[in-house]
Amino acid sequence: MIVIHGRNALSSIALAMALMAVGASGSASASPRAAAQGGVQAKLEYCETCHGEGGQGFYGYYAIPRLAGQQPGYILNQLRDFTSGLRTHPIMGNVARGVNPPMYGAIAAHFHSMNSPPLGGGGGGDAKLGHYIFTNGLPESNVPACWACHGPDAHGVREIPRLAGQLPAYIEKTMASWEAERSRKSAGGLAALMVPTTHNLTRAQIAAVAAYVSGLR
Ligand code: HEC
Ligand code: HEC
Repeated sequence: MIVIHGRNALSSIALAMALMAVGASGSASASPRAAAQGGVQAKLEYCETCHGEGGQGFYGYYAIPRLAGQQPGYILNQLRDFTSGLRTHPIMGNVARGVNPPMYGAIAAHFHSMNSPPLGGGGGGDAKLGHYIFTNGLPESNVPACWACHGPDAHGVREIPRLAGQLPAYIEKTMASWEAERSRKSAGGLAALMVPTTHNLTRAQIAAVAAYVSGLR
């Protein structure tokens, strides 16, 4: 287990990743079968160096999302989309390209089974307003109720992600930059379902709903 102390950890990891991506691209495919069989545990430990112990999420230079309890179908879609570039992120794109697809299922099942409590870290939003939007939407702004897709407990279902316990700073960033980071073809077209929602909410309304769901178990 690699234990990371302090906020500079992420930058070291990111640097190490960048170096590995340059150095290892030729050898990564040398023994895919051995990697798929023996490498899952090592990969999981590696994931937690960024995604936090217990998959709780982590505050580095920016918020790294919680994976604990996440829906396996959603995790699989994201790993595929990071790899193909349909979902853009410089660090996670390189990380995903280093994971053998035969490992995806075991990795997704592992994170789905984790039941860590929310990391916290609040966010500045009005959680009461967030609860209202989550439950009722904002019909006057064409914003649908979140629970209709994400589930009444915000645990998600199949390819629709869990939001419960997610880091508020990550939710805010993600919703504010949806169309820049997730093409309409992401997740087999499912990312398009979030376009009206992300368009029509103000920053304060996004912060509100982020504050509400981030506290849910
Ligand atoms: C070097 C740091 C780093 C490592 C190591 C890492 N990740 Fe990530 N991961 C990130 C960042 C940063 C994001 C957020 C990307 C964004 O903002 O869109 C992310 C996002 C994700 C997401 C999308 C989550 C969501 O809610 O949409 C998944 C799934 C994921 N990572 C899986 C993994 C897996 C599986 C591993 C281990 C094989 C792993 N990550 C290792 C940094 C990392
Ligand atoms: C019509 C169905 C639908 C509704 C309604 C909906 N969502 Fe989503 N949402 C999705 C789908 C599908 C995804 C996953 C898209 C993908 O994989 O690219 C998603 C993804 C997200 C994500 C990204 C999660 C992550 O870990 O990166 C956030 C945040 C989110 N939704 C918040 C909300 C909020 C807040 C509301 C209510 C204001 C809402 N959604 C309403 C279908 C919906």
